[in-house]
Amino acid sequence: MIQTTMPSNIALIKYMGKNAMQGPINSSLSWTLPHLWSQIRFEPQEQDRLLTTVTLKPGGEEKFLKHFQHLKTILNIRQCFHIHSENNFPSGAGLASSASAYAALTKGTYLLSQSLKTHAPMSIDAIANLSAKGSGSSIRSFYGPYCIWSPEKAEPTGENWPKLESCVAIIDDQHKKISSSEAHQRVMTCPNIHQRAEEANKRLAQLINAFDETDWDAIYQICKNEFLDMHHLFHTCQTPFRYINSKSEQLIHQADKLQKQGTPLIVTMDAGANVHFLYPLESVAKIKTLASQYPQFPWRFSHV
Ligand code: DP6
Repeated sequence: MIQTTMPSNIALIKYMGKNAMQGPINSSLSWTLPHLWSQIRFEPQEQDRLLTTVTLKPGGEEKFLKHFQHLKTILNIRQCFHIHSENNFPSGAGLASSASAYAALTKGTYLLSQSLKTHAPMSIDAIANLSAKGSGSSIRSFYGPYCIWSPEKAEPTGENWPKLESCVAIIDDQHKKISSSEAHQRVMTCPNIHQRAEEANKRLAQLINAFDETDWDAIYQICKNEFLDMHHLFHTCQTPFRYINSKSEQLIHQADKLQKQGTPLIVTMDAGANVHFLYPLESVAKIKTLASQYPQFPWRFSHV
């Protein structure tokens, strides 16, 4: 039986906006989240079907099965399967699961092709590129713990950079009204989208330097400017939309306070209202104290 597990990842420099080939318009940089993962298991059956405990967003099942069909065609798999898919984080908790789910589906289907001998062995790069066709951010889950994904390629980086713990405050546990795929489309109508892509690439170069020098002040500022810049795109496209709310703002303010007191940390947000914190081991106690002041939010930690 083929079964595989893949982790999620969180971007510090964000992938936002797609080119005509459906590739990213700028480079992104992520940290792997090994404690948030998706698992896939295949069961031979008469028809392809997705069986999952995850609450899917509208159209989510069709998109997932379409990617499976695409993989099967490329990998010459003719048999049908029930795909059992689950996450180790609560479904519908507002945590991005597409990166880990698509990475697991792609890797699992590749392993299926190897066991059925329908395709020659492929490199990790080739498998990861296939995964990006299903969901862009999933490519980064193949490389870690840090990954840079440029329009040309994805690769691991930052071997000597700090190991990070993480937590997320689940401010909104509902499916987003605007999915990240739709966000990618809408931001292309922003007047300054190409300038933003250049800025993101510049910030990536600055963040690499800041990590090389373990300059936490710079790391904090660059990552904060980056997610605010992405959200500014959401607010300024032709049909604007918004994820940041007053609760997110409160937590960002608390992160600012901790940072000013000298606590090494990063605060970031994806296409949603939830606020993610990343930090070295030495900051765990400070972050736990902060989280305990907001018991109204479910928090999900990478540590105890
Ligand atoms: C805001 O990878 O979910 O999380 O390629 O359409 O599936 P699709 O989009 P997706 O976009 C992720 C956007 C983001 C930023 C990031 O993870 O880099």
